[in-house]
Amino acid sequence: MSSNGSSSRATGLRPWGREDLGRFARDYFSDRRIIVVSNREPYVHQWVGGRVECLPPASGMAAAIGPILRAAGGTWVAHGSGSADRRTVDRNDHVAVPPDNPSYVLRRVWLTKEQEAGYYYGLSNEGLWPLCHVAFTRPVFRQEDWRRYREVNEVFARAVLEETGGERSLVFIQDYHLALLPRLLKERDPNLLVAQFWHIPWPNREVFRVFPWSEELLDGLLGNDLIGFHLRYHCQNFLETLDQGLECRVDQERSEAVRGGKATAVRCFPISIDFESQSTEAASPAVTGEMDRWRRELGLSGGEVVGIGLDRLDYTKGIPEKLKAVDRFLEQNPSYVGRMVFVQVVVPSRSRIPTYNALSEEVTRLAEEVNWRWSTDSWRPVALLRNYEGSVRMMALHRLADFCLVTPLHDGMNLVAKEFVASRFDEDGVLILSNFAGSARDLEEALLVNPFSVEETAGAILKALDMLPEERRKRMQRLRETVSYRNVYWWAGKVLRSLAAREIPAQVERWETTLP
Ligand code: F6P
Repeated sequence: MSSNGSSSRATGLRPWGREDLGRFARDYFSDRRIIVVSNREPYVHQWVGGRVECLPPASGMAAAIGPILRAAGGTWVAHGSGSADRRTVDRNDHVAVPPDNPSYVLRRVWLTKEQEAGYYYGLSNEGLWPLCHVAFTRPVFRQEDWRRYREVNEVFARAVLEETGGERSLVFIQDYHLALLPRLLKERDPNLLVAQFWHIPWPNREVFRVFPWSEELLDGLLGNDLIGFHLRYHCQNFLETLDQGLECRVDQERSEAVRGGKATAVRCFPISIDFESQSTEAASPAVTGEMDRWRRELGLSGGEVVGIGLDRLDYTKGIPEKLKAVDRFLEQNPSYVGRMVFVQVVVPSRSRIPTYNALSEEVTRLAEEVNWRWSTDSWRPVALLRNYEGSVRMMALHRLADFCLVTPLHDGMNLVAKEFVASRFDEDGVLILSNFAGSARDLEEALLVNPFSVEETAGAILKALDMLPEERRKRMQRLRETVSYRNVYWWAGKVLRSLAAREIPAQVERWETTLP
């Protein structure tokens, strides 16, 4: 039984929702503007066939932070990356979002092609991304990328300071693209309250040692009042990296680092989703309608078993390993030949980077190989789809699935696992989850596997398909209970409460009794 869901239930508290978070933010931060900063924007305007379309990106980070700003209001500063983004902002580069019910302001930051190449593709995604994910892809560090990274962090600092306008503000920075930003902000306005959440793992100190500009990067991060990671293990790694790599005092007991007399708290907050709204939407007629469309498109007649995988096309996600596991499963269980369909959706990502292109080719080749090996005149085991078609289509796929494979080689959290659980209001379906996804710590009732072992994953598929309905139901009930309590409002509440506690410790205790 998951310790998380059960302990929350034992307290008799109900899960936090949007209103609780909104009230909390207004109670403690009413005198501060709330500014969120990230590289990826929450809404992208694109030209599609002569028309402007507005779509959310395929980003767990963006999906998780959105509900917070909708609850608390404020401004989100992010890179304007869409082809029609410039067309849709006002003269302050502002656009009100979400488009159907505007509740906060998106401030777009413009980058040149050279800046995007060096800062985003280069330093962030060829350097820091493989460095922090131990997925055996060698990081690349170029002096020119580092120069662009510093330059772009400066661009973001100017944009944030324009938004705060010298007023008391709380700035909540997302992720590894903006590690220098906290220091830049604090140097210019020490009254800012600055927090950052690092959405990817932090590696152990020996791995991090190879980063050529570690002192400047770590110093940048210690500009924060608070830095959050998904897992305690990542916090530990971060504190040990600081201990070894920077002149500062690390206090393991208090989980903080002090540099130049100023303390940065280091805390773990496992991120989550808006469980309630996703679960409700999954039950909508629109989703049910899409299930029928999927059945038609996949040629399902009713007798098949269906497995699914939904991933950004990234080498950390273990997509080739999944396809190999499906192959091994069919080899070991010939009775499923002709009646198991595995639908793998891959969302193209970072396609200017050679390793991503190579992965794309490998995934296509493997899917073709598995299909070539097993397909019959009327059936193919793997449907490889290369489009993100929006949340309604994805929820419909969740609901169709007998099992869902979320098997990254290494991942900070992997919210797809929690999204699958939220969609299964029917309390059915089996989640097969990598031990190396942060979400494995929360979702103990999933079938946990080592994705590097094709045998283990193939074995888990069989276990999922053999599982008795009663056991499936029990596991899914418990998973749903956990995610319903440990939802994104709980996550944001924990982050904000930690920040508020630094300023007004006594008052914060009142809220302690309502946050599960
Ligand atoms: O969660 C990690 C993360 O890098 C987010 O910051 C990001 O939005 C998401 O993965 C998708 O990556 P990208 O923004 O590079 O497409």
